[in-house]
Amino acid sequence: MDVRVEQGDITQAEADALVVNLFEGVTSPGGGTGAVDAALEGAISRLIALGDIRGKAGELTVVHTFGKIPAPRVLVAGLGKREEFDLDVVRNLAANAIRALRKPGVKRVVTIAHGAGVAGLDPEGCAQAVAEGSVLGAYRFSRHKGAGSRDDDTNGAFPALLTIVERDAAAVEGMTAAARRGVILADAANVARDMANEPANHLTPAELAARATALATAAGLDVEVLEREAMERKGMGSLLSVARGSAQPPKLIRVSYHGRGGDGYDLALVGKGITFDTGGISIKPAANMEAMKADMTGAASVVAAMQAIAALRPRVDVVALAPCTENMPGGNASKPGDVVTAMDGRTIEIINTDAEGRLVLADALCYARELGARAIVDVATLTGAVSIALGDVCYAVLSNDEGLAAKVQAAAAAAGEKTWRLPTWKEYSELVKSDVADLRNVAAPNRGAGTIVGAKFLEPFVAGTPWVHLDIAGVDMSDKDKGWVTKGATGYSVRALVNLALAMAS
Ligand code: BES
Ligand code: ZN
Ligand code: ZN
Repeated sequence: MDVRVEQGDITQAEADALVVNLFEGVTSPGGGTGAVDAALEGAISRLIALGDIRGKAGELTVVHTFGKIPAPRVLVAGLGKREEFDLDVVRNLAANAIRALRKPGVKRVVTIAHGAGVAGLDPEGCAQAVAEGSVLGAYRFSRHKGAGSRDDDTNGAFPALLTIVERDAAAVEGMTAAARRGVILADAANVARDMANEPANHLTPAELAARATALATAAGLDVEVLEREAMERKGMGSLLSVARGSAQPPKLIRVSYHGRGGDGYDLALVGKGITFDTGGISIKPAANMEAMKADMTGAASVVAAMQAIAALRPRVDVVALAPCTENMPGGNASKPGDVVTAMDGRTIEIINTDAEGRLVLADALCYARELGARAIVDVATLTGAVSIALGDVCYAVLSNDEGLAAKVQAAAAAAGEKTWRLPTWKEYSELVKSDVADLRNVAAPNRGAGTIVGAKFLEPFVAGTPWVHLDIAGVDMSDKDKGWVTKGATGYSVRALVNLALAMAS
């Protein structure tokens, strides 16, 4: 999608559809909506008087213009209540609006920058939210559908062109830069969605590494893929123990960005890359196992975030690490009770082979330290327990550092992503102590706190480095389109990570 900001009069725009808006309770619209209403001889206000348009959040009404203005249709989008209105509403509205316009005849959409006029929000923030929401909302994964089974014929980028019109010429330059930022953020989230939606027979660790390499090369970033032998040399026995049961070779992807050019890295982003999680010998039940193709969402998120970081060029040094493997129950697979040694020499008793994410992350966290990371954020679909605790409304933040946790939560909030902090008190450390090794990978049965236990297992491997663990297992997939969230892989955490890198820039 090509997104532009132009100075002009929306009523005269050459487009297949216009998008305007209305607050709940407003009977005579102002701004761009008012101008369109006047050009349509009061058609919108008449629909308001009839009660067909009420301005409720999520309300979308198509009004046909029958030659009164160049655009054949106008979508009136409800903004909801003024007191509940913010940039999150704008982002979601833009996403819902663009999906409502997905039809063969709609190629050029012209919109007002919702919120910038009557609502008094910062015009640049609004332009970014409209661009971001539109690109996120228009996303679909249709790679494996034949032309005949697609439920629409708007192939490729939809719509081809989105223009945000602004009356004030002086505001256009700033809004153009903001819209570009929105597109860059949303494109990165869509890159992660493409990887997470990809079936596991297509997206193997090798394919994930190939996509990361292509992305990094295109963005001018350094990339390195560690093979099994290199991992063996580094003593990554924990990561390698997960790969044992699979015929697919593991890959440890590193993508680096030097925006500052210092030593080491200001920030390491570490993502769980299980391209399919069967559970291994502690095998999962068949029901819903197909969802485990997305158990590499953390890896996809950190790699995709680097694309946006490279495009936005903050003065900060960032490395993304993605330990990637399948978790399969092959003849050589790890067995419950096996003891393995991680890169830092810590020994781990594998009680449950389905708690594999923390095993691959352990070595990747050690590697982040070896590379000189001064702050680490890991992202993982780590526990089913996080869905029990938080559902799909937010994701869990666990940390050993108040300052970094606050920065991460603020970065997520700016992306419209809700987070909730869970505790990491030392009492929980008891749960990961083993009788035969330094750590066990799951707690004793029925001790609860599954998401916290996952974090407490990871914590020793960062050895005091400021660290945040994001457990996104409750939000990584959605069964429906809702605002910026689309069906299938959601892209959660990608824009939050990019915002964090921007906020950390000196
Ligand atoms: N990949 C799963 C977690 C998961 C579950 C992600 C549901 C998305 C949706 C993870 O590897 C896993 O299996 N965790 C176990 C941990 C347990 C054995 C301590 C779990 O949550 O059951
Ligand atoms: Zn698992
Ligand atoms: Zn897993």
